[in-house]
Amino acid sequence: MKYIVAIIQPSRLAAVHEALVAIGIEGLTTSEVQGYGRQKGKTEVYRGTEYTVNFLPKVKIEIAVGADMAEKACDAIKGAAESGKIGDGKVFVLDLESALRIRTGEAGVAAL
Ligand SMILES: Nc1ncnc2c1ncn2[C@@H]1O[C@H](COP(=O)(O)OP(=O)(O)OP(=O)(O)O)[C@@H](O)[C@H]1O
Ligand SMILES: [Mg+2]
Repeated sequence: MKYIVAIIQPSRLAAVHEALVAIGIEGLTTSEVQGYGRQKGKTEVYRGTEYTVNFLPKVKIEIAVGADMAEKACDAIKGAAESGKIGDGKVFVLDLESALRIRTGEAGVAAL
């Protein structure tokens, strides 16, 4: 199993969600986060003054998937989150050791 952590632009959440549902993802977690990448959260010049915001709002999506679904999920996220501009975000894929559905006791992929 894999655990996918995607950081995306908040405005892309609905499109990414739709793309993930379309490939059969049945559960996910989202949270509002703040962060920065290579541009260090540097923003635009406003009325002659350059404003620097260290942390920009992003949405984090976490999804546990069977290993066979990981690439498909990453492709779906990229396809729906990409605007081509800086700050579009990143996708990290981690190995997932175990999963458990609390109600039934199902474990592993069956718990997803
Ligand atoms: N190395 C990192 N580790 C953890 N989170 C990161 C990392 N890089 C980026 N992020 C998160 O992803 C968000 C979006 O990053 P961003 O897309 O700006 O990356 P980038 O490397 O600057 O690429 P780009 O040049 O396309 O902007 C950041 O605000 C931060 O929350
Ligand atoms: Mg950036």
